[in-house]
Amino acid sequence: MWIGVLGFVLIIAFLVWLFWPIIIGAPWIPTPMKVVRRMLELADVQEGDVVIDLGSGDGRILIAAAKERKAKAIGIEADPLRLMWSRRNIRNHGLHKQAKVVWGNFLDKDLGEASVVTIYQSQDINNTLEPKLERELKPGTRVVSHVFSFNGWDPQKVDNESHVYFYIV
Ligand SMILES: C[S@@+](CC[C@H](N)C(=O)[O-])C[C@H]1O[C@@H](n2cnc3c(N)ncnc32)[C@H](O)[C@@H]1O
Repeated sequence: MWIGVLGFVLIIAFLVWLFWPIIIGAPWIPTPMKVVRRMLELADVQEGDVVIDLGSGDGRILIAAAKERKAKAIGIEADPLRLMWSRRNIRNHGLHKQAKVVWGNFLDKDLGEASVVTIYQSQDINNTLEPKLERELKPGTRVVSHVFSFNGWDPQKVDNESHVYFYIV
């Protein structure tokens, strides 16, 4: 009887753990690589930049930023499976000194280290993030968002083909 109850509780805890990223943000939908490159191009990511990807998925933006643009790249990812997978992808590319992924909710992390922020979440999350980014990011930090805009900000550029919004804080 007790083993059954414990098993049930463990299964529920496991499901919550697994689906937590969907509850607190967007599910994993990878940005096409062509769009990733366009995002990095619009933000003019270069060596010396610190790129933070909010909800870094399989690490593709981090890997492109580190490998193709020589930037330091930090991902924040809530999904533990995606976290392990992206860490493996980074190791496989030999980029572990330049790129890393932190486990957790990006709404709880300080983002002040970024010179570039990349994001592909939802309109609700962008609305929630807007005041946090205004508080924490240094003036001049570039923000690139795929699909969803920041409604209180004027974009420097909008790429309607790739659905990318580019802002400077
Ligand atoms: C649409 S995917 C984008 C993945 C990646 N940035 C890309 O462009 O390919 C959203 C990712 O954000 C993660 N996520 C959602 N809400 C989050 C939160 N509050 N904190 C950290 N990660 C979150 C999801 O687990 C998922 O991997």
